[in-house]
Amino acid sequence: MMFIDLIDSTALAERFDPEDMRRLLGVYHQACARAIEAHEGHIALYIGDGLLVYFGYPNAHEDDAIRAVLAALAAIAALREANELIETEYGVRLQARIGIETGLVVAGAIGAGSSLDHRAIVGEAPIIAARLQSLAPPDAIVVGPAAQHLIQGSFKLEDLGWRELKGVTGPVRVQRVLAQADTIGRFEIRVVQGITPLIGRAAELEMLRRHWRQSVDGEMHCVLLTGEPGIGKSRVLRALCDGISDDTHVVVSLHCSAYYRNSPFWPVQHWLQRTFGVGPDASDASDMERLEAGIARLGVDADETLLVLTNLLGIPTGARHPTVETSSSSFKRRTLDVLVAILETSTRVQPVLFVVEDAHWIDPSSLEFVRLVVERLVSSRLLVLVTARPEF
Ligand SMILES: Nc1ncnc2c1ncn2[C@@H]1O[C@H](COP(=O)(O)OP(=O)(O)OP(=O)(O)O)[C@@H](O)[C@H]1O
Ligand SMILES: [Mg+2]
Repeated sequence: MMFIDLIDSTALAERFDPEDMRRLLGVYHQACARAIEAHEGHIALYIGDGLLVYFGYPNAHEDDAIRAVLAALAAIAALREANELIETEYGVRLQARIGIETGLVVAGAIGAGSSLDHRAIVGEAPIIAARLQSLAPPDAIVVGPAAQHLIQGSFKLEDLGWRELKGVTGPVRVQRVLAQADTIGRFEIRVVQGITPLIGRAAELEMLRRHWRQSVDGEMHCVLLTGEPGIGKSRVLRALCDGISDDTHVVVSLHCSAYYRNSPFWPVQHWLQRTFGVGPDASDASDMERLEAGIARLGVDADETLLVLTNLLGIPTGARHPTVETSSSSFKRRTLDVLVAILETSTRVQPVLFVVEDAHWIDPSSLEFVRLVVERLVSSRLLVLVTARPEF
């Protein structure tokens, strides 16, 4: 359950006439609705300037708590963006507070006669979410203990301590969400809490080791590990990595994400950010220097690679490059060529284990990259290992 509230709405209502106030509320609702829909949440109720949102009902996902927090972060970001316009037109900035908590609820019809609500929810969680919301600083998100348990490892949190909530018995541990965590993949987030010894899977592991040995000898191999969620694809992959840790090699991982299946090159961007040590919001001069130094170390075509990677990672180049039509298909081809060249150059230095995790969520551009790698690098010291659920 997520509860969003607009700060100081009474003061705003006093200051603006109802028509302007309605327009302001419209901008705020638009910003929230887009963020919520993008993460497949359901806006259940508009209570004045507050919004009650469900994640997990009517459509359930395996990661609804994470989706709620991502939607909350996106809503705050969208509101900040909308404020640019609002400030020039109305001279105010809109800010919100968001509370999120998970809990057992009963869903279904409630009410009577013409005001029957078919998708109502009865339980403590919406009340706690609303109370938590009131504890949040402006433009901040706070989560209750149950939601915190489900999002652990996925976000950076700040402990706000044990707090009393009106109408709730006993103090509640409250955490503020600061940002998304830099963790690499879903499996890594889970193993932070401990990994169990591998049971069975000797045959699968031996098969993977055999392909690895043949790859090391200079013949690219490609293995697709498919199976239902939780069957142990990532666990087997981890066992392979542990088993070959003494061999000289490098692991290149693309981690696909359910939330970014339509963001071109999303897993590729993250791989490059990790490789070159540049930030996700790369913008400062040092990012540029790190990128240039990294490219020089690789020994690839420096100018072309720099042009493609600054564009891909959104690093401003000032007046250093001629303007190129980056949305054109010819630039996309150049981008793919550069990416394949980076991987190919790495395989000349040492064998590469190229992992594509959760390929069922891969975006079309990244998939094209993987296809090209398999097509072109046939005689490289490369093992391409793809994990995916059956729908891939
Ligand atoms: N053979 C095994 N021995 C021990 N633990 C295992 C084994 N297979 C799976 N597990 C454990 O089960 C959980 C789920 O496994 P894993 O994350 O590897 O599944 P997956 O197939 O990658 O699922 P998804 O499609 O969601 O990525 C993990 O905690 C993992 O450590
Ligand atoms: Mg997995």
